[in-house]
Amino acid sequence: MLLKDQVAIVTGGGGGIGEGICFCLAREGAQVAVSDLNEELARKVSIKVKESGQKSLDGFVKSRHPGESRGPENYN
Ligand SMILES: NC(=O)c1ccc[n+]([C@@H]2O[C@H](COP(=O)([O-])OP(=O)(O)OC[C@H]3O[C@@H](n4cnc5c(N)ncnc54)[C@H](O)[C@@H]3O)[C@@H](O)[C@H]2O)c1
Repeated sequence: MLLKDQVAIVTGGGGGIGEGICFCLAREGAQVAVSDLNEELARKVSIKVKESGQKSLDGFVKSRHPGESRGPENYN
């Protein structure tokens, strides 16, 4: 496990390539914080990672649209 005790934040993790990256990082031991513009998709991926027996943080990081102020808004 290359990423044991590490936290990985995946922007765009709610679908497509980002979702796949979430699972790859989790398999390597990272706790994955899924970030996406679409909060519902981010939550679903976070739950799927946990259901697969890997670690995902109990919340998600809400991404902001380009041009909005920076920084995570929700991180439960
Ligand atoms: N899918 C492919 O085969 C492929 C090939 C080459 C390049 N790409 C590029 O790679 C990127 C990802 O592709 P994909 O198919 O996974 O994309 P996708 O359209 O499935 O998007 C993945 C996720 O990113 C989220 N997202 C979009 N903009 C965001 C933002 N600003 N902040 C946070 N989340 C955001 C979406 O809500 C979605 O859940 C795209 O830029 C695409 O053009 C894709």
